[in-house]
Amino acid sequence: MNVSMPRCCRRYLCIISSVFFSLILFIYIQYFQYLSNNENLNQPAYCNQTIIRKHFMQNKSPQELFEENPSQSTFTYEIHNGNFCLSLRPHALVFVISKSNNFDSRNAIRRTWGNFAHISSLNKFSHVRLKLLFLIDIDESRLLSIKLEQRLYHDIVQVRLPQYYSLSTYRDMAILHWTDKYCSKAMTTVKTDDDIFLNTYLLANIINTIRINTTIHKTKLQCSYSDTSAIIYGNLFKQAPVVRSSSNPIQEGTRYITTNTEYPCSHYPNYMSGFGYIVNRNARSKLLCTFFRDKLPFHMSDVYVTGIIPEYVDIKRQNLDLLISYRSDDDCENFFKERNPNSYACASSLHYNQKQMNIFERFNTYWQHVYENKFLYINHKIILSKK
Ligand SMILES: *[C@@H]1O[C@H](CO)[C@@H](O)[C@H](O)[C@H]1NC(C)=O
Ligand SMILES: *[C@@H]1O[C@H](CO)[C@@H](O)[C@H](O)[C@H]1NC(C)=O
Repeated sequence: MNVSMPRCCRRYLCIISSVFFSLILFIYIQYFQYLSNNENLNQPAYCNQTIIRKHFMQNKSPQELFEENPSQSTFTYEIHNGNFCLSLRPHALVFVISKSNNFDSRNAIRRTWGNFAHISSLNKFSHVRLKLLFLIDIDESRLLSIKLEQRLYHDIVQVRLPQYYSLSTYRDMAILHWTDKYCSKAMTTVKTDDDIFLNTYLLANIINTIRINTTIHKTKLQCSYSDTSAIIYGNLFKQAPVVRSSSNPIQEGTRYITTNTEYPCSHYPNYMSGFGYIVNRNARSKLLCTFFRDKLPFHMSDVYVTGIIPEYVDIKRQNLDLLISYRSDDDCENFFKERNPNSYACASSLHYNQKQMNIFERFNTYWQHVYENKFLYINHKIILSKK
């Protein structure tokens, strides 16, 4: 009798064992996924004030936090443009976050939607003062060209952020800090980016509505938690789920991925689209008071500035139910052609790094559509709801 197995049996054994081990591996992976899913399931739906206080603010209430000395209290400006607001109390400082490199985008904005002469020439908006500014961080190789650009246009603020502050959170807080320091009477600050086309007429209509609804207090604002007139206006994202992993990190980027340690809840507090949110004076003050005492600001700027801090210090987020196009195929022309009175903002595909097209030509095409339909946007009724 032959003790060794027949050839065919050995092959079977081999197959069976590999199937067996694959199965073990499969179960093991499933189990881990189950565990991590379960961890998400056990997480609170969203981080409310109590959780934010524990997780981000060393368990301090806003009142306690505001009594502390700020750990940082200023930004440093390479170009501070400190006289910009000298003789002026803008209703909106429209800040476009830009990069030294992107002269073409700034040029396109200045010549299209950022040219607010179109607004002040209208009877209805003759009292609405909008001012455009670009916030640029430091690119050492282009300091001189930015200086010259500023001499020409007087619309640049350049902030010195160390290289490792790649976080957009710092740039967004810098525009609020600049407003506070050099233009403290401004009624609102609007935040947008240099690849966004904003509908100027609709923006002016919104600012005018806010202006009529706002009693201006001229006193300098202190860090006060009890202030109840802090409001951020814009387009609200409700109950946005937190992205924990990406199936395609190369394409989608890792900037949206957030670990449990960074943010321990499964959804974000309601927050505003960064394509053009509007911060009033009181909200600005509360945001700065918190930010300068926060030792580890959250990395996603829109979530942090318009969601996490507002949840913590009780800033009202007012949804204007605007239309914003997030389409990545640069369909802004069709977006504005649709003639919806709510069309507010659109990202050009420059957002997605295809730099070959001429941005001014594109923006000018959108501008023609917006300009032709301006009365649609000017006369649209903006509702500032009580809640
Ligand atoms: C916040 O959420 C936690 C857990 O879901 C809950 O226990 C707590 O009461 C909530 N706090 C507030 C102020 O709603
Ligand atoms: C602004 O609008 C709200 C809600 O409609 C209203 O309660 C408030 O009194 C208004 N404020 C001013 C100053 O008109």
